[in-house]
Amino acid sequence: MGVGKKKLCCGVTSIFIVIIVIVILTLAFTIFKPRDPIITLYPGSNIEVTSFLNPTKNITLDSIITIENPNYGVFRYKNTTSSVTFRGKVVGEAPIMDIYVPPHKKRNMTSPVAIMPVRLIQDPHFWIDVAAGTLNLTSTVLMSGKVIAMNIFKRPATLYNSCNITVFILSKKSEAICESKLKV
Ligand SMILES: *[C@@H]1O[C@H](CO)[C@@H](O)[C@H](O)[C@H]1NC(C)=O
Ligand SMILES: *[C@@H]1O[C@H](CO)[C@@H](O)[C@H](O)[C@H]1NC(C)=O
Ligand SMILES: *[C@@H]1O[C@H](CO)[C@@H](O)[C@H](O)[C@H]1NC(C)=O
Ligand SMILES: *[C@@H]1O[C@H](CO)[C@@H](O)[C@H](O)[C@H]1NC(C)=O
Ligand SMILES: *[C@@H]1O[C@H](CO)[C@@H](O)[C@H](O)[C@H]1NC(C)=O
Repeated sequence: MGVGKKKLCCGVTSIFIVIIVIVILTLAFTIFKPRDPIITLYPGSNIEVTSFLNPTKNITLDSIITIENPNYGVFRYKNTTSSVTFRGKVVGEAPIMDIYVPPHKKRNMTSPVAIMPVRLIQDPHFWIDVAAGTLNLTSTVLMSGKVIAMNIFKRPATLYNSCNITVFILSKKSEAICESKLKV
């Protein structure tokens, strides 16, 4: 009799242990191993080639940045500045506002990308590319923040984002292809 009870008790205990392990593993994989947010940049299309001829004035591209959070946790980032480069040289910057992206949601923010013509026109490659009709810029940023799950679990997280921006000189249109990597 006594032996039977002991077996029953231990059976129930091990079932509880298995359930707890499954819950912890599920939490670990869904919350603490977050997927990379998807960042899309819609660069402004207001670039005039003549603007480059005035090196004392910055060119501002009014751009939209969309951040999509594919996770169960909230993302919260501090404001920072993205740097814009041409052939590896910094030619501009873009402010990134602090942002809070709820789980499975998208958030848009506007960012006036400032390009300094004075930095570009000194580069002979710039004129070659303009003559060829496309100007390729790259923006990179490291955003530091937190991943928050169920208001209790908080982990510092760093998001690295890089976008290749192509400006089509004649049509004044521009497009960007981005990649993002999250580190927790
Ligand atoms: C151009 O932008 C840079 C970087 O944002 C800034 O430091 C500089 O003062 C700006 N220049 C002008 C003329 O607005
Ligand atoms: C972030 O925002 C604060 C308050 O608005 C401001 O003082 C700070 O300069 C900003 N930092 C960056 C990197 O833009
Ligand atoms: C965010 O901006 C993009 C590009 O302009 C637009 O297509 C989308 O509808 C916007 N989304 C929201 C939620 O405002
Ligand atoms: C700019 O980037 C586009 C797309 O990646 C590419 O087709 C083009 O050759 C590049 N232009 C220059 C001048 O590097
Ligand atoms: C941007 O361009 C560089 C050089 O061509 C390439 O290595 C990188 O993968 C591109 N990034 C994206 C997000 O397409």
